[in-house]
Amino acid sequence: MKVTLSAIKADVGSVGGHNKPSLKLTQSIIDHVENEGKKKKLIIDYKVFTAGDDNFIIMSHTKGVNNTDIHRLAWDAFVQGTAIAKEQGLYGAGQDLLKDAFSGNVRGMGPGSAEMEFEERPSEPFIVFMCDKTDPGVFNYPFYRGFADPFHNAGLILAPDMQAGFEYTVMDVNYTEADKVITLKVPEEQYQLAALLRDPEHYVIESVHSRASGDQALVNSTSRLHNIAGKYTGKDDPVAIVRTQKEFPSTGEILSPFATAHFVVGDNRGSHNIALMPCKLGSIISFFDGPAMVTAAGICIHNGVMTEAVDLFDQPFWDYVRNKAAEKSYSLREQGFFGNAMAPMEELEYTGVMKILAGLDKKFVIRKK
Ligand code: F6R
Ligand code: MG
Ligand code: MG
Repeated sequence: MKVTLSAIKADVGSVGGHNKPSLKLTQSIIDHVENEGKKKKLIIDYKVFTAGDDNFIIMSHTKGVNNTDIHRLAWDAFVQGTAIAKEQGLYGAGQDLLKDAFSGNVRGMGPGSAEMEFEERPSEPFIVFMCDKTDPGVFNYPFYRGFADPFHNAGLILAPDMQAGFEYTVMDVNYTEADKVITLKVPEEQYQLAALLRDPEHYVIESVHSRASGDQALVNSTSRLHNIAGKYTGKDDPVAIVRTQKEFPSTGEILSPFATAHFVVGDNRGSHNIALMPCKLGSIISFFDGPAMVTAAGICIHNGVMTEAVDLFDQPFWDYVRNKAAEKSYSLREQGFFGNAMAPMEELEYTGVMKILAGLDKKFVIRKK
């Protein structure tokens, strides 16, 4: 059957700073989706996760992507969550709800969304990646390695189904008038793809399709909050859904690039470079309002019904990676605000530095020769 997976996420308030939504808040989201979505048969199934201070609603249904009723269901759930956040005095209540009234689709309203419609395979395994304290370009590195780099993923040459390569759709997220996208085919256009993906704050992988079957392999939430709001409102903390196995890379081939603990932009005040830490589902934020984290739920879906989720980074190997990420991050943090320790100027999410520089600019003198 043809099914749609919709992942819609938002930060609407958390306990102890920007750390984790309260249990009551997340329960209010679950209750809303259960009562207004599942019981009323608008959706077939759902799951709710948290990563750091964000709530992620994963829904299965048959209404296709960008469906108003599905988006309203998620929006209203976050409105409910905001009411609880206000009642409990949580920090950042309603932070990601940038508009007062719902207008048909959560895109451009604050919450992030990643949706994909596909014909279910007899067994349909997929991963939901959920991040906190970073932006959607976080996936450029692992998804390049998983779908375009045979040195990392020998499956690309071993599995006949993958030899035709993949087609990437990449978005220029700095263009705010409309969606500005390009499609590139690997292996032929691998260098052109690399030239874009090396700049993850500007060019972001939105989706990947199999060239053998035409089927969509993944979707990523590409919205950038500061582009919507025109000012800092929090990091984008993306979600991505990746179908795995058979004509797609295996679950392990998709997970393994995260062992690099690659440097990403985010962390405290969204303004630093930090090594991405693969964490267990539901992990909280701690050191330096971070570290920037990715969590991963492995699920199978059949006739729209989802199995329980497997916590894919809850395995001893990832303890080694978490230690490595902590070491990488801390060695950069020891450098404070100097050079590469901080994000580039245009990514600084608070205006303090700009104000200082603007004030000092008037005081600079140009020496006579
Ligand atoms: C980063 C983040 C936090 C806050 C920081 C200051 O995405 O959410 O690091 O930027 O805790 O928060 P405010 O400005 O709310 O005091
Ligand atoms: Mg927050
Ligand atoms: Mg967050």
